[in-house]
Amino acid sequence: MRDAAPQTIYLKDYTPFGYVIDSVQLTFKLHPTETRVLSKIAFRPNPEATDRTFFLHGEELKLISATIDGKEVSPSVTDEGLTVDAPDAPFTWEAEVEISPSTNTALEGLYMSNGMYCTQCEAEGFRKITYYPDRPDVMATFDVRIEGSEKVLLSNGNPGASGEGFAEWSDPWKKPAYLFALVAGDLINHPDSFTTRTGTDVELNIWVRPGDEDKCAFGMQALKDSMKWDEDVYGREYDLDIFNIVAVDDFNMGAMENKGLNIFNSSCVLASQATSTDADFERIEAIIAHEYFHNWTGNRITCRDWFQLCLKEGLTVFRDAQFTSDMRSEPVKRIDDVIALRARQFPEDQGPLSHPVRPEEFQEINNFYTATVYEKGAEVIGMLKTLVGHDAYYKALDLYFERHDGDAATIEDWIQVFEDSTGRDLQQFKRWYSQSGTPKVSVKEEWDAENGIFTLHFSQSTAPTPGQDIKDPRVIPIALGLLAPGGKETHPTHVIELTHAEQSLTFDGLDARPVPSLLRGFSAPVILEQEIDNDRRAFLLANDTDPFNRWEAGGDLARDTLINMILKDAAPSPAYLHGLRRVVTDESLDPAYRGLMIQHPSETELAGTLSDMGEIPDPTKIHIASRALLAAKAETLSDILPALYADNQPTGAYKPDAEGSGKRDLANAAMSLMAKLGDLSHAKAQFASADNMTQQFEALAVLVREGQGAEAVKAFYDQWKEDRLVINKWFGLQISLAEPEDAAKVTEALTQHPDFDMKNPNRFRATLGALAGNHAGFHHESGAGYALLADWLIKLDPLNPQTTARMCTAFQTWKRYDAGRQALIKAQLERILATPNLSRDTNEMISRILG
Ligand code: PHE
Ligand code: ZN
Repeated sequence: MRDAAPQTIYLKDYTPFGYVIDSVQLTFKLHPTETRVLSKIAFRPNPEATDRTFFLHGEELKLISATIDGKEVSPSVTDEGLTVDAPDAPFTWEAEVEISPSTNTALEGLYMSNGMYCTQCEAEGFRKITYYPDRPDVMATFDVRIEGSEKVLLSNGNPGASGEGFAEWSDPWKKPAYLFALVAGDLINHPDSFTTRTGTDVELNIWVRPGDEDKCAFGMQALKDSMKWDEDVYGREYDLDIFNIVAVDDFNMGAMENKGLNIFNSSCVLASQATSTDADFERIEAIIAHEYFHNWTGNRITCRDWFQLCLKEGLTVFRDAQFTSDMRSEPVKRIDDVIALRARQFPEDQGPLSHPVRPEEFQEINNFYTATVYEKGAEVIGMLKTLVGHDAYYKALDLYFERHDGDAATIEDWIQVFEDSTGRDLQQFKRWYSQSGTPKVSVKEEWDAENGIFTLHFSQSTAPTPGQDIKDPRVIPIALGLLAPGGKETHPTHVIELTHAEQSLTFDGLDARPVPSLLRGFSAPVILEQEIDNDRRAFLLANDTDPFNRWEAGGDLARDTLINMILKDAAPSPAYLHGLRRVVTDESLDPAYRGLMIQHPSETELAGTLSDMGEIPDPTKIHIASRALLAAKAETLSDILPALYADNQPTGAYKPDAEGSGKRDLANAAMSLMAKLGDLSHAKAQFASADNMTQQFEALAVLVREGQGAEAVKAFYDQWKEDRLVINKWFGLQISLAEPEDAAKVTEALTQHPDFDMKNPNRFRATLGALAGNHAGFHHESGAGYALLADWLIKLDPLNPQTTARMCTAFQTWKRYDAGRQALIKAQLERILATPNLSRDTNEMISRILG
């Protein structure tokens, strides 16, 4: 039973642990229901701490025995851990506990997935394995012995002795317990090796279930590319003899950076042409890089406490984005990231869950692995790099690695490194870490024709967010350029720094009123309000030299026409359609970029835009307008679609690289528009003949969207029923594309399908997550979508609180909608909150969302 009042933990209350650990020895005797864990830990008093309370975290453990320096002790044990009198001198703690991995459905601690043992310890899962000071500032070297009958027995670090039924591992690098990992199973490896720049040979393995061996090659190449890239760009070399990756089917998140033994959700590592889409390949490459890059930003330098989570996550997301830009296309990656930021982080920052990049309080840390900590955290690093410049950034990073290697560091340490290495005062910049909410930057223009002077008047403001009424001005880097009326760029990109609530910038000696291109490359995560009309947007779409802003201008035109269609029943704007036609036919632009231009803002994003404008979004109207714009695009481009389709069929063998995937994207967009005009022949033929999942799946999507998919849906299932990752797509697609009035029914029917398994987070998300992502369907006025999601969250909570809590975010935007929908959602939120024994995770999320 949980406490009536859940406990809140505050950043300001941080104190160090009373002891330091010199070494940890663990022995695991594996058994599905009665695993024994023996620990032997050398403690000594921490000279930097005053409080010597000896408290060890421990949850769901059966304590068998405990000794201090060999003498039996009787700790006082609660649900959260144990306390015992400990000497004010060095001592050895030994304990034996029993745990039951096969009944662990929360997928935290030691659990089983398809007969294999695996662990997940971040953030606070190690306390479900043994008694330990489970906090990231307690770091130690680990020696591990695993006893079990499985063929493969893995842990962190370098391999030691092994033999029939056992294996030993030792990790020479001190680490916090959240980076501990163990895997045991009858796995098969895809082996390779990498020679570091100083000549050390590293053994590499991707471990998978038998049958998945043919899906490892791409991930392995991505790993080697990441290792090389981190040497070349950041000067960071790998530091063990071996690097193992394991694929697991049951996993709450994407992947985990355990030292030398990364554990991956199988959907984030297994890849093949026949079963993975181009988007999957790109995501897998990025996640492999992300986890690998954590070896330095996260593991060698870790976090003092969980409030500092963005120290490792923001930086590592920033690094993996740099890697993807280098491997693929820089503008396309930037555009993709901004689309994701607006879709996931902006709603969070502007709703009841808004929190700073470095939160100052929480009840359950698992609820703070958010878009704000990760994606906005990465944006903050990007701004810092823009402000100090390329060379100064890498110089500061060198100092960071040198000064803090082996430390559990803070955001203060990070900022200090930049201040010391650049000589800049970054105290105002630091507000990006402490203030929540998305700033609005408004720009007014003034043109003095007589004297040729052009002035931009900037002002910045941030609306109040939960717990933060007052906002101070932040340092906002605005990258901008000027274009002459004829379209030529007269002032190339340069960066100005906004530091005040209001600030002006003047250009003189101009012959004619220029057109400014503002916030190039999306140089800060803000909402820009400028004086701009459709003529000017069309001008920027045609002439801007900044690829991001060119895309933005096209997107703004699309947004504007959609808003007019929704609010005023207007017809689609010719300015947008003509501009689109020009871009799509511009062969000098790369296909991936043209493929992006052909998309228009999602229905969810439009709901956000309307709400920003003070309008109440009507999900049905948004859906109808979005479909109507698709039809209008098809009409406008009708004569060029067949050629666009034919000319962009990649030739030669399938390659999931930027070029091939860009072409497939553009060709698929053409196929989709032709289908809108009633010509399904391409989609049908492509579905039948595709030799890769990108083309097969897109064809299926088009057929389903046009209401002609029943047969293909069945055929697809028959073809792929043995492949769980493809079947996740099959579940998701039918729900994402269901008509608004059918979405809840389709979802409910699929939860009755024999392949639905609520205990598998991927399958649960493919089903209920897809419902939440079908904007018009989830928000259908019947309320059936809300009720169905609530039913399943209530069912899942006792089994898997983490995944349940994360999916509650589907309701975070509820106050945008009309009174009727608000009442329906509120009733569901209250029903969830009233559930007996609700987890701390879900309780915190629903309470915050209700506000
Ligand atoms: N630290 C992991 C990552 O970002 C995410 C994660 C968090 C995984 C918590 C599991 C549990 O790479
Ligand atoms: Zn991470």
